[in-house]
Amino acid sequence: MVTLEKQMEGPLFGEEPIEMGVNDNNRKEIVARFAGDAGYRRDFAAAFPGEADPISFGNIIKAISAFERGVVSASSKYDLYLLGKATLTPEETRGKDLFFGEKAECHHCHGSVNFDDQFYHAKTREIETPFHNTGLYDLDGKGAYPEPNRGVFENTHNPTEMGAFRAPSLRNIAVTAPYMHDGSVATLEDVIDIYAAGGRNVASGPLKGDGRYNPNKSALIVPIDLSPQEKNDLIAFLKTLTDDSLLTSPRFADPWKPASTASGPTRAPAQ
Ligand code: HEC
Repeated sequence: MVTLEKQMEGPLFGEEPIEMGVNDNNRKEIVARFAGDAGYRRDFAAAFPGEADPISFGNIIKAISAFERGVVSASSKYDLYLLGKATLTPEETRGKDLFFGEKAECHHCHGSVNFDDQFYHAKTREIETPFHNTGLYDLDGKGAYPEPNRGVFENTHNPTEMGAFRAPSLRNIAVTAPYMHDGSVATLEDVIDIYAAGGRNVASGPLKGDGRYNPNKSALIVPIDLSPQEKNDLIAFLKTLTDDSLLTSPRFADPWKPASTASGPTRAPAQ
């Protein structure tokens, strides 16, 4: 999926799994809901001038993609540090050195400007989207992850791709708990403890199993001998990736006020 527009077709129209559930039977009704809102009529006419019928799924997709393209986080403390406009504390500096060093090895999978490994630029010829198993589960001693979130395996049914996921961006990671594809890790402290252990041992319950010995686990996920101070340092570094200017920008704030009448939410005045 190379464009945001293409990506959106999955959640909107996809049938396996059904996400937003848009289909030929309800499509007209959904467009009519937009057309019934004076604010949307005004904004779509303004955004797509000269079109007879500006409220359409094609334009809804373009509008959401344009919004998504605007959400660029580039003013975290760490970004400002790279520009020479902020100084990292000794703790944060040690965390950065661990993150980008060969002891903690985080950068092998989270090393791009977005702290993932899905980054490509204008001159990239081949788009690679690597997937990794980080040893979170092993339900059966053969590497099983709990259904229905078994990573690439859900699409390919290739057993070696069981539990393989993309390394997500770590920008603003301190404010996006809980963590991992299923939100099964509550805090950054827990995330670091799992990496330090080389995977997660689920000791009891229905998901019992020792992910540290998952046969599909990436060779990069091995026990790391981190002292309590080094764990704190890594977390201090991860906290420098929080971009408050983005998080508090009215541009990205929810434009809907809470519902005050039975007719549903009303829109705040355009910013
Ligand atoms: C082998 C590649 C790899 C390495 C090395 C790696 N990660 Fe990850 N990381 C991933 C993948 C893949 C996920 C998503 C796993 C999932 O959702 O099941 C992830 C998830 C995370 C998350 C949670 C992200 C979220 O939004 O839920 C954090 C935080 C994180 N990693 C930090 C680190 C740190 C810190 C290190 C170094 C100690 C590290 N990672 C090393 C691949 C890696």
